[in-house]
Amino acid sequence: MIEQDKIEEIKRQTDIVDVIGKYVQLRKMGKNYRGLCPFHTEKNPSFYVNPEKGIYYCFGCMKGGNAINFLMEYEKLDFPDAIKRLANNIGIEIDTTKGLRYKELYEANDLACQFYAQCIVSEVGRRGREYLNRRKINLDRLKEFRLGYAPVSGGLVQFMRQKGVNFARLQQAGLVTSNRELFRDRLIFPIFSLSGRVIGFGGRGIDDNIHPKYLNSPETPIFKKGEGLYGLYQSKEHLRAKGDVLLVEGYFDLLSVYQHGFANMCAPLGTSLTEHQALLLSRFTRRVTILFDGDLSGIKAALRAIGLLIDAGVDVYVALLPENSDPDTFINTNGPQALEQLLEEASDFFHFYRGAVKADTVNKEVVLIKDLIQIIGRIKDPIRYDRYLKHAAHVFNIPVETIKREIDQNAPVPTPPVQTTKVSREEKLMAMILSGYEHFSLAKKYLTPEDFVDEGVKRLFNKLLKEDSFDIAELSGMVDEGLRGKLLSAIMRGEPVSKESLLDAIKNYRGQVSKKRIIKKKSEAVRRGDDITRQECDRALLALEREQLNISIEKAAEDEQPNGAKREAN
Ligand code: UTP
Ligand code: MN
Repeated sequence: MIEQDKIEEIKRQTDIVDVIGKYVQLRKMGKNYRGLCPFHTEKNPSFYVNPEKGIYYCFGCMKGGNAINFLMEYEKLDFPDAIKRLANNIGIEIDTTKGLRYKELYEANDLACQFYAQCIVSEVGRRGREYLNRRKINLDRLKEFRLGYAPVSGGLVQFMRQKGVNFARLQQAGLVTSNRELFRDRLIFPIFSLSGRVIGFGGRGIDDNIHPKYLNSPETPIFKKGEGLYGLYQSKEHLRAKGDVLLVEGYFDLLSVYQHGFANMCAPLGTSLTEHQALLLSRFTRRVTILFDGDLSGIKAALRAIGLLIDAGVDVYVALLPENSDPDTFINTNGPQALEQLLEEASDFFHFYRGAVKADTVNKEVVLIKDLIQIIGRIKDPIRYDRYLKHAAHVFNIPVETIKREIDQNAPVPTPPVQTTKVSREEKLMAMILSGYEHFSLAKKYLTPEDFVDEGVKRLFNKLLKEDSFDIAELSGMVDEGLRGKLLSAIMRGEPVSKESLLDAIKNYRGQVSKKRIIKKKSEAVRRGDDITRQECDRALLALEREQLNISIEKAAEDEQPNGAKREAN
């Protein structure tokens, strides 16, 4: 469990535009930011983010909430993990038992990294140094990438024991299997998290006969192969500055090319590119140039990566290496200028795809065209989409309309935009109560559950009365989806709620709704000749009037002390 105070602090410090902006391109529109909804397919933006209120809402599909909801929905995280992600973003440490376990894993990895790095510069690591020399990697890279060597004879376990790290912890960190050290006689590539912590390792066998050639740390709570990218930590600032990246397949490809001045590079961690990695890249760059091996498997991997990268919203180019070479061999044989040249000639994904897929029969051509059209349909940028659409029409000599129809037919069915249902008076008031939850004591004072007719709103108000905290993220467990959508939409549309505006709203609501209801009840009582109820109603009306007066007095008191609220806050 994370403490409530911590959660509040994390929420306070979180900038929702910053959080969502990593996934959705947002444009400022007055007080709000607007973009294409990531939860349903749309061409016109109906997804709004309001930094002041800390919420997002899509008027198309009615998805909405705060930053926590966004991460839960988009990244499929549970509540505590979403909180942790936010905490991470703003550099707040969370002490949970899980957090503690993470800390130990980070420590174990860092110590192991120190051990391997120590080895490669000492006698026991001569083989590692010699290997780097043979692979033409400058020893300057040692520091930058914290490269290391795992000796044939091992030694990690003893080293760790001296540092007070026991065997069980090494096992948890994936550094030893049941009874032996995982890496032996391997060149060690530490893998870094985005914040620069060592989360795992890749190891290249020095002896070419060793199997497997590359060995990676197993997955641990802090290391997920499909989620990180090798080299991203070292190059992320360059990436942000330059806006493009070179994607290669292997560790050595990255080091070899990097040391020739290509600073914007990363590589997947021994698997083919995943959706997660594509999205990660899109947070740092708008343009990816794929530079995979020049063999069939490299081409296949590139074709797969294209779709994922397009879906992540980046622009994709592919540089084709000659057959039988990879970026490492290419740059070491032909030099950096030749690579530069190759990159300049990189084709956009369309031309690469068309060139890479054999279409020597009409049938194969149809498949190729359909595949390509389907990829074009996934391009997020409207101008780029339009350009490729027209280009495809021209190249394949097919009318634009036909292509569009093909795209529409295969497009995932968009969530139909809901009719913006009318938000009732009590829903509006409830939205204000939620939006200005810090003033909930006022609602508590002047409203009772009976003031609400709508069962959903009444139930919600009851729940609020029982809880001593409330988070928009919890709304989905408290009301049905329809009401939740309406409340969020009203919050998004409404002004920020102050004590005064809430008091006004409560007063108006009570004045109009309650009064109306009592008067109706009274006239029915009169018709029935029910004197008791009539008197009850009269008393209620009187009470209401007195209360209206009270609210006004409280408000006036507020007005007389404009500093009152400020003093409270200090
Ligand atoms: P390659 O087989 O293309 O090797 O694998 P490479 O990068 O050219 O390596 P060198 O030049 O022979 O040293 C590409 C990437 O696939 C992963 C590694 O990440 C490697 O860098 N891989 C490969 C593994 O994870 N395990 C393997 O056994 C082989
Ligand atoms: Mn290679």
